Amino acid sequence: MTTLFTNIKELIQVRETPINKVSGEDMKNLPTIKNAFLLIENDKILDFGLMENAPKTAENVVDCTGKMILPSWCDSHTHIVYAGNREQEFVDRINGLSYEEIANRGGGILNSAKRLQEISEDELYKQSAKRLEEVISQGTGAVEIKSGYGLTVDAELKMLRIIKKLKENYDIPIKATFLGAHAFPAKYKDNKQAYIDLIINEMLPKIANENLAEFIDAFCETGYFSVEDTDKILTAGKKYGLIPKVHVNQFTTIGGIQMCVKQNALSVDHLEIMNNEDIEALKNSETMPVALPSCSYFISIPYTPVRDLINAGLPVALASDFNPGTTPSGNMNFVVATACIKMKMTPEEAINSATINGAYAMNLSDEVGSITKGKKANFIITKEIPSYGFIPYSFGTNLIDKVYLSGKLQEF
Ligand code: NIG
Ligand code: FE
Repeated sequence: MTTLFTNIKELIQVRETPINKVSGEDMKNLPTIKNAFLLIENDKILDFGLMENAPKTAENVVDCTGKMILPSWCDSHTHIVYAGNREQEFVDRINGLSYEEIANRGGGILNSAKRLQEISEDELYKQSAKRLEEVISQGTGAVEIKSGYGLTVDAELKMLRIIKKLKENYDIPIKATFLGAHAFPAKYKDNKQAYIDLIINEMLPKIANENLAEFIDAFCETGYFSVEDTDKILTAGKKYGLIPKVHVNQFTTIGGIQMCVKQNALSVDHLEIMNNEDIEALKNSETMPVALPSCSYFISIPYTPVRDLINAGLPVALASDFNPGTTPSGNMNFVVATACIKMKMTPEEAINSATINGAYAMNLSDEVGSITKGKKANFIITKEIPSYGFIPYSFGTNLIDKVYLSGKLQEF
């Protein structure tokens, strides 16, 4: 079946020649076609161009006068499978406690792990599916989801099986990441090596056996997993074909980025605290730096110095980090707006970061992230807007009119 979208005010992120990411200066360039058409066939993009060259017929025609089309957001870092919420910690932080203080008294990740271990699979699926539907309605058209709130063999498997079920039931590309190394459970406080052994010797073989993850992650941070711990875990994961994507430099810089680059990580995520050596290490690597501005916003920590990264010629991807502790929001429109407002990205840079570079950070550049022939027909039709810069400018306003995934209009 073919569907023709006509009179598109501006077709955004048009890449005639496929690219897998954009870096440095090139991020300022966001190719578009004004007064365009877009033709899709079943789940794929078939053609696009100036309206004057539009085909005369198609099985369906959708008039887009005054509206723009852009590829769906590619959210390469989320934790949307979780149980319950942590509003109490939110209030505790308002009253002066820090994220670290809350974690030290058994809150934080361990609080979410306790709830997740207790919840039934059905209820966990329900809560997670609701969040997935919410982010789809907000324009996300490809998403990575992590485990890491299980922290036991059974509960980590439970999380990953939920992600698998979401993959089966929703028409959106989903990549699963094993994050058993998210925090040390209380009972391993004095024997951290035993938990690392559990990850490597018990969790990983089972996950690989059921084919439950594509990527492996760890929270490489002071007080969590050291650079050496993370290095060991990533090496073990790679033996099972899992590709590293790592939480690093959120609160401190401890040499994790250098190790991740050596491990040829697909992405390094957070990067709120960066020094020159960290930036140098990323040059000439294939590792995508991923910034998570909603996390900085919510827990009031520094924003990733993306200008320094871009000025160094590096690419940057933007993702939500949707999770119950540091970012209870998966709204990529807010992420893009906050990147412009707080990290001084231009709208062009932010849109590149949240589409093609996000796709790269999930190994999905061949499928999504741009308007390119043969890619998945996953895109957003905006409401009538004056310019694409209006999207980050009017932060907080819903400017999405329609969402298509695999060529199908999504109903909400
Ligand atoms: O990406 N920093 C580590 N992990 C999550 C937060 C986890 C939590 O507080 O539940 C993050 O910010
Ligand atoms: Fe995270």
